[in-house]
Amino acid sequence: MLTDEIRQSYLDFFAKKGHKIADSAPLVPKNDPTLLWINAGMAPFKPYFSGSKEPPSKRMVSSQKCIRTNDIENVGRTARHHTFFEMLGNFSFGDYFKEEAIAWSWEYVTDILDLPEDRLIITIYKDDDEAFDIWHDQIGLPESRIVRMGKKDNFWQIGTGPCGPCSEIHIDRGPDFGTGPEDVLGGEGDRYLELWNLVFTQYDYTEAGEYIELPQKNIDTGMGLERTASVLQNTRSNYEIDTIYPLIKEVENKSGFEYKGDWKDKMPHRVIADHVRGVSIAIFDGALPSNEGRGYVLRRLVRRAVRYGQKIGLEGPFLYDFVDKVNQLMAGGYPELSQRSDHVKHVIKSEEESFLKTLDQGMKIVEDIKSELKAKGEKVLAGKEAFKLYDTYGFPLDLTEDIMAEAGLEVDTEGFKDEMAKQRERARNARDEGGFASSHDLYEELASELDISTDFIGYHNLKTEAEIKAIIVDGEKVESISPDQKGEIILDKTPFYAESGGQIGDKGIISLIDDEAIAEVKDVKERSGLIIHIINQKTGGLSVGDKVESIVDRDLRSSTARNHTATHLLHQALMNQLGDHVSQSGSLVSPERLRFDFTHFQGLKDQDLRRIEREVNRKIVDNLKVETFETSVEKAKEMGAQALFGEKYGDSVRVVKTGDYSLELCGGTHVNATGEIGLFKISQESSIAAGVRRIEAVTGLAALDYIERQEDIINQAADLLKGRPVEIVDKIEQLRSSKKELEKEIKSLQDQLADSKAGDLSEEVEDINGIKAIIKEVELDQDGIRNLADELVNDLGSGIVILANKNDNKVFFVAKISKDLVKDGYHAGNIVGDIAKITGGGGGGRPDMAQAGGSQPDKLEEALKRARELVASQ
Ligand code: ALA
Repeated sequence: MLTDEIRQSYLDFFAKKGHKIADSAPLVPKNDPTLLWINAGMAPFKPYFSGSKEPPSKRMVSSQKCIRTNDIENVGRTARHHTFFEMLGNFSFGDYFKEEAIAWSWEYVTDILDLPEDRLIITIYKDDDEAFDIWHDQIGLPESRIVRMGKKDNFWQIGTGPCGPCSEIHIDRGPDFGTGPEDVLGGEGDRYLELWNLVFTQYDYTEAGEYIELPQKNIDTGMGLERTASVLQNTRSNYEIDTIYPLIKEVENKSGFEYKGDWKDKMPHRVIADHVRGVSIAIFDGALPSNEGRGYVLRRLVRRAVRYGQKIGLEGPFLYDFVDKVNQLMAGGYPELSQRSDHVKHVIKSEEESFLKTLDQGMKIVEDIKSELKAKGEKVLAGKEAFKLYDTYGFPLDLTEDIMAEAGLEVDTEGFKDEMAKQRERARNARDEGGFASSHDLYEELASELDISTDFIGYHNLKTEAEIKAIIVDGEKVESISPDQKGEIILDKTPFYAESGGQIGDKGIISLIDDEAIAEVKDVKERSGLIIHIINQKTGGLSVGDKVESIVDRDLRSSTARNHTATHLLHQALMNQLGDHVSQSGSLVSPERLRFDFTHFQGLKDQDLRRIEREVNRKIVDNLKVETFETSVEKAKEMGAQALFGEKYGDSVRVVKTGDYSLELCGGTHVNATGEIGLFKISQESSIAAGVRRIEAVTGLAALDYIERQEDIINQAADLLKGRPVEIVDKIEQLRSSKKELEKEIKSLQDQLADSKAGDLSEEVEDINGIKAIIKEVELDQDGIRNLADELVNDLGSGIVILANKNDNKVFFVAKISKDLVKDGYHAGNIVGDIAKITGGGGGGRPDMAQAGGSQPDKLEEALKRARELVASQ
């Protein structure tokens, strides 16, 4: 079976068993600060497991794109490890449990995939007698093929969240695949391969390290698509299956290096194939290389691929050139990939180019380090230094070790590992910073405990009466909040818009009905289906159960609405003016301004910006009606609505329609008609990453403010220039040409001054053993004495000129020697080098011309005396 066929058969099989098919979520997690990447099929479904969100169906099935980065250095070494892979999974949220999960998995592997039963071995969690009985009594497997394992192998959890004991289906590929000590069940060898993990998700693992029994029993399963394909296609490793091997072939073609031999010889091909899949799909899903978090993972993957490419002679940027192949091979599951390939290629290529530059610089630094160590007579490069090479210049430890070994030097690898551990720690901490006051888990717990999701009524109302359902202070659930405390409030319903889709949360107040108590709402976020009002309690106290009035700040909301609708107009205008390759890669909508990031390869010219600005303003003047409606994703896309790449939509979506001009899937708040926007003004255009541009703009009265500020600047400038605004340009031109004139004049006066000094000094020629020499301190700047020295040597015809100047703490020397004397062996570089030392400095240069400096002006006389001696002694 081809990989596409396996994926489809899996989805079909479980669809027949009443599962709803879910599209793969993007690799970049949404609303989950605990995850860097989607790393398992269950990851996008976490709220369904905990019961905090209602799933669209209690049975779901998916093939999920995943990235795992815990062991990047091993990818390419083994037959089955990847950074990027697909996970097939079927899920039950409080519906079926062990019995069905086990029976269906067996039916699928034996009936549909037709795997030989006698090669399949089952592992179960050591105490899970229930699972044992199902495999033994109902499926009919002999006891010998059901192996009990401990927590390490058969209890599944990644980070915090849903977890539980599991049962795995392994296949014995036979002794051909290995007979070493690692070729045992659960071992790292290639003989036994874990195909499918069935997790009986019963617990929620909290940040406090507790296992909390979930209110419902769930099933989470994960089957590696690539490794299943390798079994069905009978390949030795995942790298030879139909969706990856063509990439390996392309590496062969491009590099001229055959894919054969032991794992070391094959590693470059494998690393490139694996990494380019992950990097290109992650960029498609909206990630970008950078120096931290997710972006840093991409950066490391690109760098690692480039380095392995270099090992097989792939010079220059090459990785981006594999993107089309990836898209073609993945088209069965992800036909949309090709829509963004220009962007993906551009980002990868720029990243490669900048790494190649860095690598060049790094090589120079390595050379410096080598000579420094040698000079100091040291033999070991400190771990910190090796880590810096790794972290800043992308030098893997083994490369640094190789280079150092060639020079007979060693690397402190332990120290390197310490630094690496410290960095991991930093990365972990950074990941946690995504949340706000409280940990993510608290909201999950609250949502299932309160059994509500906040009702958002703010599209049509800015004010409502509501009941306080929960209060949080310092990350803990509390009963009430008192004046001057900061905290979070959850209501049963609210008009407050929670930050989403780039639009920031509303501000306003929550107050007790018929009472003075007022909480100021600073920001609003949504977590686990709850709308969280982040507040400052101003006066009075609020308690759980209180009836309150919540009121959104109307002015701020309308400013935000203007900016949001303007963002849609801008998006459309960009596509019309620049082309269809423009797609949104980020956006921020606040009351003050809007910021829109989009894919485009070069800076926008002033006339482009003008055209875009004009088109948007034309649509404002046209006063287009803005309407919203709900429909299915399919319908919306059929109508031509702009959906975002890297965004996963539910079944029903909200569409915002602006006249016949723009159609976007969007949950934000908008004006009723574009005329309300008043005016749209672009304030800045810039680059934020390779292939991604940013436009910032203002609307309404803020646009007027902006224009007034520009006007103020122009008026000020006109005042300074003593003219009217229209005359500014002419006046500046005049100033510039008169400045040029003045500079010319200064130069000619300086020349005259040097001439006259030269005249004076030629009187002071000394005769040192028959050599004509002028050795003097002069009061000219460095340029001046250089010119003067030139002139004097010319005047002398044959001779030596050594001039110096000094200020409070510096001395500067110039020496010039005529050609004939250079032939006789006089050396300007040696002379100034020597005499500068007397003044606590150094320098040197060519035999005919050199300069040097020192820091002790009081030694100048002595230095010049020494110069005379040097000339005399030759
Ligand atoms: N979530 C389980 C895994 O990733 C199925 O193995």
